[in-house]
Amino acid sequence: MGKLDGKTVMITGAARGQGRSHAVTLAEEGANILALDICADIETLSYGLATADDLAETVKLVEATGARAVGLQADVRDADALRQAVDQGTAELGDIDIVIANAGVAGHGSDHPDQEQVFRDVIDVNLRGVWNTVHSVVPRMIERGAGGCFALVSSSHGLSGRGDNGTAGVDSYIAAKHGVVGLMRGFAHWLAPHMIRVNTVHPTGVPTPMVMNDGVQRYLTSDPRVVTEMANLLPVPMIEAADVSRALLWLVSDDARYVTGVALPVDAGFLTP
Ligand SMILES: NC(=O)c1ccc[n+]([C@@H]2O[C@H](COP(=O)([O-])OP(=O)(O)OC[C@H]3O[C@@H](n4cnc5c(N)ncnc54)[C@H](O)[C@@H]3O)[C@@H](O)[C@H]2O)c1
Repeated sequence: MGKLDGKTVMITGAARGQGRSHAVTLAEEGANILALDICADIETLSYGLATADDLAETVKLVEATGARAVGLQADVRDADALRQAVDQGTAELGDIDIVIANAGVAGHGSDHPDQEQVFRDVIDVNLRGVWNTVHSVVPRMIERGAGGCFALVSSSHGLSGRGDNGTAGVDSYIAAKHGVVGLMRGFAHWLAPHMIRVNTVHPTGVPTPMVMNDGVQRYLTSDPRVVTEMANLLPVPMIEAADVSRALLWLVSDDARYVTGVALPVDAGFLTP
């Protein structure tokens, strides 16, 4: 028996990286997966986002566990597209029990000439996108009356400003990821009467395409202070996506049924004061 047998989980940004790892880990515990991703690039970023082929690969990997999967292209900045994806996913997989708001971008090292647009794009995806994601599911979840669970993916940069180098890309990332904690706390209060839990997860560095690119290298070498400040307490440069997936599995399962309003670091001690 799996910890998530019979549950339907919606994951944004599921085509690759941590989102894909979460999809497969939760499917291995019996969940069916609605995998959403933009599958397109955003011009101001210094790296490419996932493709339709990446999303198809996630679906294949989930199906290989024996679970059902639906992969749909949807931009979290587009509330209508999200609502349509939720409608379609629900029709195919049943009501959504759990949502992982994982889609995110990093403006680190972006040398796009319009730095204000870099700032707007990061806030738009990482903060407004999370707000859209939650609101696309909540009405149906409340109406159904069976409770539910949201895990919002923030970052170690959602609880600390360490490593800021004063650029639009990094300032906006830190601001948006702190903003996700604010959303989580509000939502936890708003949704508690409906037995809907809301928490955030705060990973330290994970070697996904968001980090393994020239923009992040430019960021890390922009100021010698950055590398020192971005070091973890435990002697590991980064953690693996699977480490975050396992923490998330606990958080969204009934093992954590009375955990709500919590900001959970998975950070190799990065956030220790
Ligand atoms: N990699 C790290 O070091 C790290 C650390 C802390 C937190 N995070 C957070 O973890 C989450 C996952 O990132 P990752 O490391 O897997 O990076 P990633 O770039 O591999 O994955 C992010 C996914 O989100 C998708 N996406 C981006 N914008 C989208 C949009 N507007 N609508 C829908 N999908 C969109 C991308 O196409 C991609 O598939 C992000 O929220 C990120 O901020 C990452």
